[in-house]
Amino acid sequence: MSFPKNFLWGGDISANQAEGGWNEGGKSPNMTDYQLGGTKDTPRMATYQMEDGSYGKTEASIENVNLPEGAKLACIPGEFYPNHKATDFYHHYKEDIALFAEMGFKALNLTLSWARIYPQGIKGGVNQEGVDFYHLVFQECKKYGIEPLVHLYKYDMPAFYITEMNGWLNRELIDEFYQFGQFAIDEFSEVIYWSTFNEINVAQFTIIDESDPKQVQDAYVRLHNQLIASGKVVKYLHDHYSEKKIGCMVAGIFTHPYTCDPKDQALNQKSMQDKFYYCADTFVRGHYPSYAKRLWKELGIEMNISEEDVKILKEGKVDFLEFSYYFTNLVTIHNEDAEMIGGNLIGGVKNPYLEVSDWGWAKDPDGLKFFLHEMYDRYQIPLMNCENGLGAIDVLEEDGTIHDPYRIDYHRSHIKAMSDAIDEGVDLMGYTTWGCIDLVSAGTGEIRKRYGFIYVDVDDYGNGTYKRYKKDSFAYYQKVCQSNGGDLN
Ligand code: BG6
Repeated sequence: MSFPKNFLWGGDISANQAEGGWNEGGKSPNMTDYQLGGTKDTPRMATYQMEDGSYGKTEASIENVNLPEGAKLACIPGEFYPNHKATDFYHHYKEDIALFAEMGFKALNLTLSWARIYPQGIKGGVNQEGVDFYHLVFQECKKYGIEPLVHLYKYDMPAFYITEMNGWLNRELIDEFYQFGQFAIDEFSEVIYWSTFNEINVAQFTIIDESDPKQVQDAYVRLHNQLIASGKVVKYLHDHYSEKKIGCMVAGIFTHPYTCDPKDQALNQKSMQDKFYYCADTFVRGHYPSYAKRLWKELGIEMNISEEDVKILKEGKVDFLEFSYYFTNLVTIHNEDAEMIGGNLIGGVKNPYLEVSDWGWAKDPDGLKFFLHEMYDRYQIPLMNCENGLGAIDVLEEDGTIHDPYRIDYHRSHIKAMSDAIDEGVDLMGYTTWGCIDLVSAGTGEIRKRYGFIYVDVDDYGNGTYKRYKKDSFAYYQKVCQSNGGDLN
């Protein structure tokens, strides 16, 4: 059997996309609480209020926002904000975790909402109600033998950090995060597996206007500060808890070359370096890679890296590498022949050999095996596939069933790819499928873009009973988890 005995089968959810309870239990708003829903073709806008009381909408990423002078982030009365209630894990966590246990989960990958634990930042103190909530969640997981794998950061810091402190551009955030991380690791002693940042490379893709050199520079400074903050927390855990493990995660912007032209091969190597390995190399090896200087020069960026930063990176090497994997795209210099296609965070060139999802993401299980080898050859530390799944439109039938053979096929082919890679020597420690229960899409804010094995009865405007239903894929994944990946039929 390919999968090791202690393989972490499970699912992944995030606080801002699943929990809801946006203004309950002492939590302060985060950026997504001010974002309206979008679609695959229309961006999610953030809303604000001017001093004269009028409201407006503006472009935003999860780490920065273009606010007019004098404006404050605010919710517009009558508008629907999908993350406010999300799929209501805050009130349904017992029922949801029981369903995860029924599927045979060994792990639940989830994030702490920073804004629930330190709503007003470190100076404002810990919000005990938020801490209690997560203890209850972990207790519920442990009851069923499910290991929580906890991410400290996923777009969930208090929004005032962004609007009043300049977000991750401000080095004070490093210390705020460090103190938050220290507190969480000490307080939640029941958690063994930690992770600092979810998809840390997202910072590279939060540039609202790419033609503005300052925005490009800022994105890389924000990322640098996150890498430093991550390194400090990793060292803290290593210094104090030898029995625990900590990782960091990179969004899988995986690409292949479009043609056999060596120039396409070289371009693809560069794309992989710049969009994926730049972060992974840094936090796995403990220093920026050699090609970083080439990248900074091309982008016209000046990085101010102190001796202290170098030391922190060196001492903050992770125990395992986490990544997300949804799709692959192609890169080419032969753009005249190429058709463009979408993807998570950024699009690319369409691969004529691959089918695409309803949202235009190319399904590539063979690519998963390929990149598992690439990553493991490069780092030789355990890998964790912590996000993989298919966003699709599901239909709730009158009898309460949901038939999602497309999702079963997607997972089957990707699990087979992992199994083959393990057989060929890759050390993969776990697989937590994305959105194991339906939740709000990060990219579009839609709920109709469903990933779950569990259907939540709510639409894009919050209408519905929030009742949970098992999709056909529920029974499939249950069989996979219970057979430790031995039965994929
Ligand atoms: C990942 C994010 O990159 O992609 C998740 O970490 C997100 O938060 C997932 O939900 C799928 O993207 P989307 O846009 O379909 O929600």
